[in-house]
Amino acid sequence: MKIVGLVGWRGMVGSVLLKRMQEENDFLKIKPVFFSTSQSGQNSPIINNSASNILEDAYNIDALKDMDIIITCQGGIYTKEIYPKLRKNAWKGYWIDAASNLRMNSDSVIILDPINYHFIQSSIKKGIKTFIGGNCTISLMLMSLGGLFEKELIEWISISTYQAASGAGARHMIELLNQMGMLYNIVSKDLLEDSLSILNIEHKVTQMSRSLNFPVENFSVPLAGSLIPWIDIEMSNGQSREEWKGQAETNKILGTKNNILIDGICVRIASLRCHSQSFVVKLKKDLSLENIEEIIENHNQWVNVVPNNIRDTLLKLTPSAVTNTLDIPIGRLRKLNMGKKYLSAFTVGDQLLWGAAEPLRRMLNILINL
Ligand code: HSE
Repeated sequence: MKIVGLVGWRGMVGSVLLKRMQEENDFLKIKPVFFSTSQSGQNSPIINNSASNILEDAYNIDALKDMDIIITCQGGIYTKEIYPKLRKNAWKGYWIDAASNLRMNSDSVIILDPINYHFIQSSIKKGIKTFIGGNCTISLMLMSLGGLFEKELIEWISISTYQAASGAGARHMIELLNQMGMLYNIVSKDLLEDSLSILNIEHKVTQMSRSLNFPVENFSVPLAGSLIPWIDIEMSNGQSREEWKGQAETNKILGTKNNILIDGICVRIASLRCHSQSFVVKLKKDLSLENIEEIIENHNQWVNVVPNNIRDTLLKLTPSAVTNTLDIPIGRLRKLNMGKKYLSAFTVGDQLLWGAAEPLRRMLNILINL
């Protein structure tokens, strides 16, 4: 059995990973060793009735070096410090990471096996040992449009994203909920008594969102009742880094020779853990909508085409319908006024599952089955 070190398993992505590994009985296939950056020496969690063990120190290179595989959700700062030390110390194990630092390195592969399984396998054969989870938005886009990518039908995609607070982290989710609570509290009596006109209620809410007491330490500005059309740092060409990743990471995952052009605007909205995306796809040829739907639907077992009508869209194509599932619904599929090669689509996916933890868990399974 492979010895697998787990780091950062208590955080948000790490907790989702652990839950999924338990659901799929992954712990029965490995010898887990739990590491901690702050509580080494304490008891490790009891998983699948395993005997309790002691948490190892996540900064102890010698302890880490004993692992066949390390899977980390500890974050970029940890990766930056520990990964080079381990490799310098001649550690030859497999590193699976949720953080983005190593994604674009030439000796790493971005993992999303329903999309790039063969590339992952051939990379393992070539001796690649570093496997990094993709950006959540990109993984969810690829899961939804996988069929069109696989058949090389896409010339370019223009994307508008509607990204959840969870993508920014746990503290951001808490801040969003606190913002929502403050906005509600300021008008809760007015809402019950119907004593004020809606414009007066809105005025009170807006005043509160602009007050100095409003919690914005994490997002910098209000998100509840608003949105933020910028995610991550500024690039020199006017893109946000999140927008830059769209084309760069997609083409790396697919291993394309000629870049598929991808661009758009990434927007944070007040959803909790589902990222949604609207696509304008320029196809290389004019295919019937029926044919397109079939190609999309047949690509993987998680994607499903939502009929383009109001009832199905409202029931199946929203963050509240999709949260905490592995489903990748894609709908609003139709040809646009621009011409027969222009397709619109809208998809929703759980940012913590297919967007973060699930590709890591599946990569672990690929490695333990070698
Ligand atoms: N960068 C993403 C976001 C997170 O901010 O929503 C996951 O890759």
